Amino acid sequence: MFYTARIIGIGSYVPEKILSNKDLETMVETNDEWIVERTGIEERRISKEGVETASMMAVEASKRAIADCGINPEELDLIIVASTTTNLISPTISCVIQAEIGAKNAFGYDLNNACPGFLTAFSTVEAYFEAGLAKKALIVGTEVISNYVDWTDRGTCILFGDGAGACVLEAKEVESKEEVNTVIMHSDGVRGDCLTCEHGRQLGLMDDPEFLNKNTFSMDGKAVFKFAVTETPKVIKEVLEKADIKKEDIDIYILHQANSRIIESIASRVGIDMNKVPMNLNKYGNTSSASIPILMDEMKKNGMFKTTQKVVLSSFGAGVVWGAAITNIDINR
Ligand code: UT7
Repeated sequence: MFYTARIIGIGSYVPEKILSNKDLETMVETNDEWIVERTGIEERRISKEGVETASMMAVEASKRAIADCGINPEELDLIIVASTTTNLISPTISCVIQAEIGAKNAFGYDLNNACPGFLTAFSTVEAYFEAGLAKKALIVGTEVISNYVDWTDRGTCILFGDGAGACVLEAKEVESKEEVNTVIMHSDGVRGDCLTCEHGRQLGLMDDPEFLNKNTFSMDGKAVFKFAVTETPKVIKEVLEKADIKKEDIDIYILHQANSRIIESIASRVGIDMNKVPMNLNKYGNTSSASIPILMDEMKKNGMFKTTQKVVLSSFGAGVVWGAAITNIDINR
């Protein structure tokens, strides 16, 4: 007998405020046509300052994911929150969620692993389930990247958006090892310089203008692009091979929503039909660790999860870090 994760509930929260490409034209030297052609992004959501914090959005997304599957929050054993742009050092967002939803039996913590943070949380829960250490878990990706964007840098400010997404995972008992999820994660710190943001509070440096410039995201866009379209197809092929599953037998490929050209290139390099690769980055931009669960929630609302679906989740981002997982979404059980 083995245990493995199944996604049983999905929820998300995105801020109301929309920042369109036209709005950005008034802020930096750019234009709607360039942004759409190079990224596929038309607009993104921006948090209401001091209100729609990473923790507030995480709580809302979590409540919606729990309502979606109808579990009692007391059934949760584990809460893992991924955020690169948290508003809280202490307590962790996972503890805030625990208190807000009444998940009194859960253990939780936050992690920061940039855009693949949600996938990292998923892989961690899978390990807990396989080890028999937890039966039900909540994982969340939540970001207020707008706090860390240099709004004078047209190379980055056009890309990002704010939001949160959450999934409830259940440990399913399966008969054979073949039914257990396959997850592969990679890091390469040597290539880390292509996407950086230093923590804003470091004593001794806070008056240094050069240091202050490093407190927003700085990116070598071409290097990140190349890394994404090289490594992501490889890890998707690797996870399919390890699971001994044909690419045609996957129902949906849920990829990190960074750039439509990156997604199309990944699909073409793996040889996947674009019908199986949904996108919503036109409306939300790149929401980092929140992009995968926000997309899943939208797919659910659009009726795309009619029966149990076999999906690939795959993400890439700062670090650099990348990975892929094969699992099942079972929201209509
Ligand atoms: O989760 C991971 C997060 N990061 C990413 O996903 C980023 C991956 N990289 C990318 O998505 C792309 O590299 C960008 C969208 C950031 C840039 O697209 P690109 O096709 O690599 O453009 P580029 O940087 O090569 O710039 C081409 C031209 C340059 O002008 P010149 O030198 O050819 O005259 C840029 O100065 O476009 C210019 N440019 C812009 N023009 C209008 C750069 N940004 C803009 C802009 N509007 N926003």
